[in-house]
Amino acid sequence: MVLVFASGNEGKLREINSLLPVDFRAESLAAFTSETDIAEPYFTFAENAMHKAKEAFRITGLPSFADDSGLEVRALGGKPGVFSARYAGEKKDPSANNEKLLREMENVAGREARFRTVIAFYDGKNGKLFEGVVEGRIAHSPRGSNGFGYDPLFIPGNSDRTFAEMELAEKNRNSHRAKAFAAFLGWLKTLPGQ
Ligand code: IMP
Repeated sequence: MVLVFASGNEGKLREINSLLPVDFRAESLAAFTSETDIAEPYFTFAENAMHKAKEAFRITGLPSFADDSGLEVRALGGKPGVFSARYAGEKKDPSANNEKLLREMENVAGREARFRTVIAFYDGKNGKLFEGVVEGRIAHSPRGSNGFGYDPLFIPGNSDRTFAEMELAEKNRNSHRAKAFAAFLGWLKTLPGQ
């Protein structure tokens, strides 16, 4: 079954295809259109994800899904949240975002944080939402070179390593995206014809 993934992020597409069972394949929206940069105009992950899934369905006519994720830091009242990608500006520069996060945390107590992913699926009839969360904390300086975004600063659970110090397979075992995908795939398999 081909599902259209409403994103222009090839790194994430690879990560998602590594999670999908063999009978499913995620195709990038870029295979269908040059308009891959769909706006995220809302203030919740769920609304942004559903908006993108519906746009991808409108463009392709195929079952579509989208995710919206971000980092929520407790001492910053949940920031950067839906603004994670553009925290330090519209250039969406991950190093600048990480630097800004460390600066903002200089004067707050507590380093607890969580990554949250919401996946929205839309096929013209069904609209469904799935969520995954991984709890952790923010390191005092960036470490590791794997992954993307805030991975060099995020230490999950009881680990002493950041996500960027882990191989993709290890990150996938307990990442927010992996958990949301597990819920999404569990539901996909219950659809008629599967
Ligand atoms: P997106 O909605 O998944 O594209 O995520 C928005 C932003 O949240 C990304 O640009 C990253 O800054 C951050 N983010 C989401 N998931 C991850 C992750 O697994 N590792 C690091 N940063 C992430």
